[in-house]
Amino acid sequence: MAIKTIITEPNKILRQVSISVEKVGKEEQRLMDDMLDTMYAANGIGLAAIQIGVPKRIIVMDISKDENKKEPRYFVNPIIKNKDKIKSTYEEGCLSVPNQFAEIDRPKNCDIEYLDYNGHKKFLKAEGLLATCIQHEMDHLEGILFIDYLSKLKKSMIIKKLSKMKSTRIVV
Ligand code: NI
Repeated sequence: MAIKTIITEPNKILRQVSISVEKVGKEEQRLMDDMLDTMYAANGIGLAAIQIGVPKRIIVMDISKDENKKEPRYFVNPIIKNKDKIKSTYEEGCLSVPNQFAEIDRPKNCDIEYLDYNGHKKFLKAEGLLATCIQHEMDHLEGILFIDYLSKLKKSMIIKKLSKMKSTRIVV
């Protein structure tokens, strides 16, 4: 297992549409292990493969928020089967949009069909934080970031800030 570098906005890689996984094999499982390590190391609750530069439709998540009781979840080729008309609002952040947060409305509940770590077909009725998180991560698979839901002005301010942070970043 290894901790990978998380790609941050602005970066064209994050705008790629990820490709379906044909079969969950050793390579995909190693990728999921690395993604989980990377997510935990960055104190995130979700990560899509594209965020470490791999354009595969794979997501890892852990919304347990308990250091001692980890509950990792793996989603390969997730599909939303049903979405609630009722919306809920969470203040969202993203490991690829560091230190920026905004309230985003998303369907409150959704049903997801996906393959798990072992390639088995699963069905999940997601609600609350879980539903919001999976929708945020699934957006990554389409090259969408949460800041895309903000006004043009807000979004451009955030991108400007992030660009500035990148240009002044010194690694020694
Ligand atoms: Ni994100």
